[in-house]
Amino acid sequence: PKRIRTHHLQRFKDEGQKFAMLTAYDAMMANVFDEAGIEVLLVGDSAANVMQGSSSTLSITVDELLVYAKSVVNGVHRSLVVADLPFGSYQVSPEQAVLTAVRFMKEAGVHAVKMEAHAATAPHVKAVVDAGIPVMAHIGFTPQSEHQLGGFRVQGRGEHAEKVIDDALSLQSAGAFCVLVEMVPAQLTADLDAALRIPTIGIGAGNASTGQVLVWQDMLGLNNGRLPRFVKQYAELRRTITDAAHSFRRDVVEGTFPGEEHGFSAE
Ligand code: KIV
Ligand code: NA
Repeated sequence: PKRIRTHHLQRFKDEGQKFAMLTAYDAMMANVFDEAGIEVLLVGDSAANVMQGSSSTLSITVDELLVYAKSVVNGVHRSLVVADLPFGSYQVSPEQAVLTAVRFMKEAGVHAVKMEAHAATAPHVKAVVDAGIPVMAHIGFTPQSEHQLGGFRVQGRGEHAEKVIDDALSLQSAGAFCVLVEMVPAQLTADLDAALRIPTIGIGAGNASTGQVLVWQDMLGLNNGRLPRFVKQYAELRRTITDAAHSFRRDVVEGTFPGEEHGFSAE
């Protein structure tokens, strides 16, 4: 397709085809991923971590994430752009969720929003969907509930699998176009994808989901912090950039940059 829309993701699932999602926070990286054919770009509240250096996603505000979201939209031609709704901007009421989602559609121009949700907050998802805004529902480990969940822990093990499936079915009924599932056992993801009509996207959730997502700074080896075991590094950007910065500095200190070819003549 010329432009990826939510119905294309549904078609991918229906036809047994997988798709990829990466996070993006600025126009240039978004443009790189768009041209590389990444179907979905997520303006995640992980921006709090990888762009702002915070240890938690809870701190980022709507106004802050809107800036990143608008930049990503400016960088794409084809990818579907989804923005997270930040903590505190949609949990209060269905009305608050609609007002916040409208800001992301209107001010940033994203194509869909993502909400961390479960069965009890399905009415918030439904209100946003009823306003004409596509919603990706995020279940399993939901980082905005980190303190309630007792830290970064695998969800849905053993008897708790049933709750995750129940959440997913409620959110599908509420009108979500897709379910993102984080840090659950691989078998539960397989059961979820089979139980749901809509596509699933996994992170730390095994190989059975329709799509997969990673945070780009983790995936490209820019992040030198401790990485979760579900990350696969496809490049070593930190090494590449460090080497380039060393070379630039050496050239400057030794007086070999700029060369004659980088300057301007008097004529
Ligand atoms: O904010 C984020 O980057 C996310 C993905 C890791 C799923 O929610
Ligand atoms: Na997020």
